[in-house]
Amino acid sequence: MKKISIVASIFILAFIASSCVTNEKTSTKIPVDTDAYLADLLNEHNVTPITKPKTDPAKVELGRILFWDKLLSGNKNISCATCHLPEASTSDNVPVSVGQGGKGKMTKRVPPKDEHGKPVFIPRNSLDLFNRGDMVTFFWDGRLMVKKDGKFLAPVGGTPARRELKYISPAGYVLPQDLDSGLAAQAMFPVTSVNEMRGNPHENNVAAIKNWEWQKMWDGLISRIVAIEEYRDLFKKVYPDIPADKLTFGHAANAIAAFEIEAFTLTDAPFDMYLQGDKNALSKEAKQGAILFYGKAGCAQCHTGSLMTNQVFHNRAVPQLGPGKGSNIPAGRSDGTWDAGRGGATGITPYFYSFRTPPLRNVAKTGPWMHDGLYSTLEATVRHELDPIGSAKNYDPYAHLTKDVAELYRAKQMEDILSFTKPEDTQKVTLSEGELSNLLAFLESLTSPSLDGLAKWVPKKVPSGLPVED
Ligand code: HEC
Ligand code: HEC
Repeated sequence: MKKISIVASIFILAFIASSCVTNEKTSTKIPVDTDAYLADLLNEHNVTPITKPKTDPAKVELGRILFWDKLLSGNKNISCATCHLPEASTSDNVPVSVGQGGKGKMTKRVPPKDEHGKPVFIPRNSLDLFNRGDMVTFFWDGRLMVKKDGKFLAPVGGTPARRELKYISPAGYVLPQDLDSGLAAQAMFPVTSVNEMRGNPHENNVAAIKNWEWQKMWDGLISRIVAIEEYRDLFKKVYPDIPADKLTFGHAANAIAAFEIEAFTLTDAPFDMYLQGDKNALSKEAKQGAILFYGKAGCAQCHTGSLMTNQVFHNRAVPQLGPGKGSNIPAGRSDGTWDAGRGGATGITPYFYSFRTPPLRNVAKTGPWMHDGLYSTLEATVRHELDPIGSAKNYDPYAHLTKDVAELYRAKQMEDILSFTKPEDTQKVTLSEGELSNLLAFLESLTSPSLDGLAKWVPKKVPSGLPVED
């Protein structure tokens, strides 16, 4: 009898402690301290407030101008900002980007045509640029990484010929190693891509170079830039000891990174305010959503840490859309239109169709979503994340995309994508509709109010005199 009552009272005590506490004055029951519970989960997943790296104002100003100057593209027809617009939350609002030779901006942008009259798209969805200052894995396939010792690394692999050269990207063997950060190293890449910024070989001096002659491309661009007096003055403010003829594209890249850090490191979303100590910054629903995200929905298995990404690769059974990056896939596997993600970049089979876990700050504003932008609502994206295989099997491009874009869907690749999934990376989680709506409320709480003010960074004009707008 005594034993039973002890057991019973322990049970009752435990019940009181775990489910509710009584508010003495009003006697209403409020749930057990949600904030304390969430604090434990956040701690477990190493979620601390984001810190903004320090920047030099002169460098930021130079970077801002370069970011908008089309002079950095072979044909002087596209800037970084064409695909990373403040008004589109540093992305471009379209599933897969439209590169050099295109006209217009965001959803109105018209792709150029290839020699067969077919529209040319970039293989992937434009990534947003929020809080990238301390990232170590860049791009959807991580083809640029920063090692613990600060050195840059590119995956080995690629097509057989390129694999002999050991690298498919310039990181690691031709990148200047004195770049400020991984973000600065990233800025060396877009200008070397034929369809993004460089242009076709017959079109300009920067493009009329072999694909692996990276140094010549960068040299060509920096000499264009420093030929303009206004640029020489801007560079002098940042690098007073370096004469104009000793400047490299690396110096420009460092400035672009400084600008991206200053303008796009945002730490005032409700969730950020909550992490900084304001317990009222999140709504009740968002808190419940956070508890799901860091708890039973399993999102933080991958979207972990302060940046909400483990910066490694998973095959989440995301169907493919767009031209693909087929040249990196071993011959015989592909008709040249597949995108094998990390597997394509490294040639390592278990990585086939794996992509880097994306960071999620401002995610409600960075659609369309996934590496190829095949979902046009955040809800559809999250439903996919809750049941990757089921969603992939039921995917209907016409239900999510405009007809033009739906035609870029690669149905044939789906079977291959599914055959490379791993159970631990594609677990299904069942939530009630109420829980789903809380999870979405949490994702909405990642939106920074400062997004509205980003337009202040757009320059009125740039030293080349080329148009700033598209
Ligand atoms: C034609 C459109 C386009 C242009 C122009 C462009 N980008 Fe991008 N950007 C993209 C796309 C698409 C991706 C994702 C590519 C991938 O992962 O394969 C990307 C990725 C990035 C990333 C990686 C972010 C991350 O999380 O890894 C950064 C940083 C970036 N771009 C900055 C720049 C800068 C700086 C410039 C100008 C020098 C530039 N971009 C020009 C479309 C563009
Ligand atoms: C096993 C790792 C993993 C888990 C678990 C996971 N994700 Fe993801 N998430 C990823 C990867 C990888 C991508 C990119 C996939 C792609 O595009 O091919 C992604 C993409 C996303 C995107 C699109 C982001 C963008 O910018 O396009 C959202 C939103 C998202 N995940 C939310 C969630 C939520 C919510 C959960 C929990 C229900 C979750 N994820 C669970 C790895 C994961």
